[in-house]
This record gives sequence, C-alpha cells and structure tokens, in this order.
Amino acid sequence: MKTIIPFSHQLLKEIVLKGDTVIDATCGNGNDTLFLSKLVGQHGKVYGFDIQAAAIVNTRKKIETEDYLKNVTLIHDGHEAIDKYIAVNEEVAGAIFNLGYLPKGDHAVVTKPVSTIQAVERILKRLTLGGRIVLVVYHGHEGGTEEKNHLLTFCENLDQNYYQVLQYQFINQKNQPPFILAVERIK
Ligand SMILES: C[S@@+](CC[C@H](N)C(=O)[O-])C[C@H]1O[C@@H](n2cnc3c(N)ncnc32)[C@H](O)[C@@H]1O
Repeated sequence: MKTIIPFSHQLLKEIVLKGDTVIDATCGNGNDTLFLSKLVGQHGKVYGFDIQAAAIVNTRKKIETEDYLKNVTLIHDGHEAIDKYIAVNEEVAGAIFNLGYLPKGDHAVVTKPVSTIQAVERILKRLTLGGRIVLVVYHGHEGGTEEKNHLLTFCENLDQNYYQVLQYQFINQKNQPPFILAVERIK
C-alpha cells in the first residue's frame, strides 16, 4: 500500500495532463511544487501559494536546482486570496494542500479551517471535470483537530451528484498520523 505522500501524488498523476494548470496551495519546502512542475511540463502552469516568505524562498531554491521548467508562479499570499491571482474562468485540473506547519520552520504558523475551506471552495469553481483537489491533513498540532473536523464536515456535505470524495487513512498508526481527503469533480 502506498504511504500518504506517494498516494497524494498518485491521485494527481492519474488525472493531470501535460499542459494543464495546477495549484500547490501550501508550498512549504517546495516538494509538491517541484512534483507538479514536472507533471504539467513546459507548457503547463503551476501556481504556488504560501503565507511565509521562508517557504517561498525554499520553494524557489528547490525548483531552481532541478530541471527548471519556468512554469511555476510563486505567490507570497494566502491560498484563500486565489481570486486575486487566478481568473475565475481559468480551468484548474488539480490542486494539493499539505496542511499544518512548515517542517523545520515556524510551528506557530499553521493552516486554518476557515481559510483552507475558502481556498477549496474557490478552487472548486475552477476545477475541470475529472479534476481533483488533494488535501493531506496533518492534524497533530494545536488547532489541527479543529481544522480536520471542519474539513471532514465540509467534504461530507459536498453534493454527491457533482463530487466524489475519498478518505485514505491508515487506521492502526499511533500519534495522529496524516490522512488524505481527495475531492474529484464528476459533473
Ligand atoms: C505542511 S507545510 C507544506 C509542505 C509542503 N507541501 C512541502 O512539500 O514541503 C504547510 C505550509 O502551509 C503554509 N500556510 C499556512 N497557512 C497558509 C495559507 N492561508 N495560505 C497558504 N499557505 C499557508 C505554511 O506557511 C506552511 O509552509
């Protein structure tokens, strides 16, 4: 069975095509941004958001050291501000969120339920048919349980005629392991 990060990438690999537009909603150290940049290729587009300057710097360093595709736009702002940066008619094939705090960074800066859900709602408006939003839910930190519960409620209430939602979780791991929520637009 695939562990959480490889499975989060697999969910996007299955549906994202070269040339697509995708979003890394939480750049952090840039691992997902780099993955998405390679996935969409030189004719694709990646928007990467993070509220921390250090994360933007780390992500820029990470993508520039590899085969730099120049298809990434890094945005030092919250993902909830997506409307300022991406037109509402610009179609998005996939998005990934890694919730929680920046590893090796300031653990006090964490994603928050209201802004996370606002960002998800705004991406849903742009999501292509068959497109997916993948949320990797880390919830062991302070405020993490609240964000997890809000997201579960939000996802459980998405109209099943338009979206299918997957929860992928190892249920015998200790210490609040992360899990995945993946939303796919089906209509
Ligand atoms: C778990 S880390 C992301 C890890 C990253 N995907 C990687 O590959 O290294 C979570 C990130 O979300 C960022 N963050 C917190 N609130 C945010 C918001 N409203 N919008 C965008 N990023 C946010 C934090 O600054 C932190 O860098």
